[in-house]
Amino acid sequence: KQLSIIGVPMDLGQNRRGVDMGPSAIRYAGVLETLETLEYMVEDLGDIEIARPSRGQEQLQDNLRNLKQVAEGNEKLAEKVDKAVADGRFPLVLGGDHSIAIGSLAGIAKHYENLGVIWYDAHGDLNTSDTSPSGNIHGMPLAVNLGMGHERLTNILDYQPKIKPENIVIVGARSLDQGEKELIREKGIKVYSMHEVDRLGMTAVITEIIEYLKDKTDGVHLSLDLDGLDPSDAPGVGTPVIGGLSYRESHLAMEMLAETNMITSAEFVEVNPILDEKNKTATIAVGLMGSLFGEKLK
Ligand code: ARG
Ligand code: MN
Ligand code: MN
Ligand code: MN
Repeated sequence: KQLSIIGVPMDLGQNRRGVDMGPSAIRYAGVLETLETLEYMVEDLGDIEIARPSRGQEQLQDNLRNLKQVAEGNEKLAEKVDKAVADGRFPLVLGGDHSIAIGSLAGIAKHYENLGVIWYDAHGDLNTSDTSPSGNIHGMPLAVNLGMGHERLTNILDYQPKIKPENIVIVGARSLDQGEKELIREKGIKVYSMHEVDRLGMTAVITEIIEYLKDKTDGVHLSLDLDGLDPSDAPGVGTPVIGGLSYRESHLAMEMLAETNMITSAEFVEVNPILDEKNKTATIAVGLMGSLFGEKLK
């Protein structure tokens, strides 16, 4: 199998600097070596170039922070990812904050009739500029991919929506804003919050997710926000929320997904080395990639 790694040093989708160093931290933690050991042909496409807003110019317009830079970065990412998929390669995108899911899904979803999305996250990222409490675009990418939000974001690669609500599953949620809860109800989006994970156990949760997605999708994208994990395991994230998924549950989830062979693209986001402890969070991200790409099966 052929894999393309694409780094996205994006930190403009939120307020805390440092997440732009995520791709470096993940590379330093050995992503290439790990995947090559698993006998993948890995090509590292390097990092997308992300503009800096000039000092004092971090703009909050219409409750959308750095809209222009975020949109432009995601346009470049979408083109790179589009090309990787067109060439038959598995795109593995390294964040960067979660706003980059706008570009990666724009590039991926055009190749599928019914792309499934597993959103592994403490948050729903289902805000729009109308509901967002922060104006941070990293809290909006899933809504954008449903075609909701500013046209500059929803219409990247000139089509929308990218995904359908019935093809989305959120896992690990424990911090949903009011507007997000309403959208989840209105669109009937499947959510396994921490409550369900604790009640059912991760084995049943992943079994149900596989069952839910397997017949109606023709590909599944894994969007893994490291803040889905508990901050005691993954401290290097900008918006930590207590009471999260454990290291062990997360590996189990990745291993079960590896067994199904259903994941066709993935991104690992929100690793912030400045907030981390000795690169612990990037190291965990690489470990999870190892499990997702079948370490246990080799
Ligand atoms: N819901 C909050 C917001 O809209 C937090 C979003 C956090 N998102 C993330 N990708 N870490 O600002
Ligand atoms: Mn999150
Ligand atoms: Mn265009
Ligand atoms: Mn997120």
